[in-house]
Amino acid sequence: MNKASQNAYYTFKYNRAIGRHGWLRLTPAYSVKIVQEVIESLPQQPKCVLDPFSGTATTPLECINSGISSFAIDINPFLVWFGNVKLKDFSDVLIAEFEDTAREIIEKVQNKTAFNSDLPPIYRIDRWWREEQLEFLSAIKGEISKQNNGNVKDLLLVAFCRAIIENSKAAFNHVSTSFKDDSECEAFDLHQSSEQFIGIIEMIVASIKNPPSAVGEVILHDSRSVPEKFVGQYDTVITSPPYPNRISYIRELRPYMYWLDYITDSTEASDLDWASIGGTWGSATSKLGRWESTKNGRLPTMLYEIANEISRADNKSSFLMANYVTKYFEDMYDHLQTIFGGLSCGGSVHYTIGNSNFYGITVPSEVLYESMMKDIGFKSVTSRVIRKRNSKKELFEYVVSATK
Ligand SMILES: C[S@@+](CC[C@H](N)C(=O)[O-])C[C@H]1O[C@@H](n2cnc3c(N)ncnc32)[C@H](O)[C@@H]1O
Repeated sequence: MNKASQNAYYTFKYNRAIGRHGWLRLTPAYSVKIVQEVIESLPQQPKCVLDPFSGTATTPLECINSGISSFAIDINPFLVWFGNVKLKDFSDVLIAEFEDTAREIIEKVQNKTAFNSDLPPIYRIDRWWREEQLEFLSAIKGEISKQNNGNVKDLLLVAFCRAIIENSKAAFNHVSTSFKDDSECEAFDLHQSSEQFIGIIEMIVASIKNPPSAVGEVILHDSRSVPEKFVGQYDTVITSPPYPNRISYIRELRPYMYWLDYITDSTEASDLDWASIGGTWGSATSKLGRWESTKNGRLPTMLYEIANEISRADNKSSFLMANYVTKYFEDMYDHLQTIFGGLSCGGSVHYTIGNSNFYGITVPSEVLYESMMKDIGFKSVTSRVIRKRNSKKELFEYVVSATK
């Protein structure tokens, strides 16, 4: 393909109108199209696909919709919950109960008879939502928390997550979240926001009418190891791990994670970021300064050469960033090793990854992945560029594939 093309259909934007894939926007989510193309390129249909970095469960959802059983792993409990709701089979009776309950909730909210939940302890909440928006959201959340049917509650919470964003002053950009002033926002209209919520419910109902044709599950686990019960069970890996570019998933997921009680303070948020591969948000940054390599130069030499070059850059954070890059690839090495061990013979892996740049020094992720995979014992290691990520810098996305 033309290396200069940004191919938006290879990003999360492609997923927005595709049923359950479009439920929530998570910028680093990849396109369903990548999963479809990988599956089509295989000599035969996979028996079981693993995604060790599930995110919004794009891979397992696409697989089970195509009749391929699939399981996935993520370190973030909110994403594990969200992914599992996406993969569920909902009966017609349940769907009707969900729709009726949502309408009853909105009626109570409009009549001001709803039970309001406490507000989440998110820092400077007034930047995210104005007072009337907060009242609206806490009334919906309060009513959802009273529900006894777990499946209905889960679907209501997904709708609520969507409402959190549609009723906020925040604009979600790729790397940063910016906030509008109250003066830049339209006046809050209870009727309009209620209609919008019903619109979200209808969108979800339409997307869950067709049940998946295979089984899928997301498991809470750290992908630096493969859970024992999955070893030898998967013949294909299709995934997009974090890139070595300092994007924090926790940072973007904060509003959902605070409202749904997955985190209660910034320490929990930065601890989870530090536990994730490639995380550097909050206190994770200072922890990087104390981090020491455990691999004693055992990874491909090129990695340490690049890290050295970064550490010599004229910037006060160059040492931290050199550690960041080294740690990222050492973590991914542990991950690839364990994935190789659990993959059935003849199976294949497909990693969608991006390169990055620190102080003008390129970190060629695709070359480093290829070289780590060869070192571990993978065969037929190849990579192909799928899109340019940024119009200014030379940042690309690649799919690195290999077999066992
Ligand atoms: C690029 S996102 C995956 C996006 C996904 N393909 C999608 O379409 O939504 C990377 C994911 O890896 C997860 N992650 C990071 N470190 C992890 C680890 N050590 N074990 C398991 N998951 C991890 C993050 O929580 C994040 O959801």
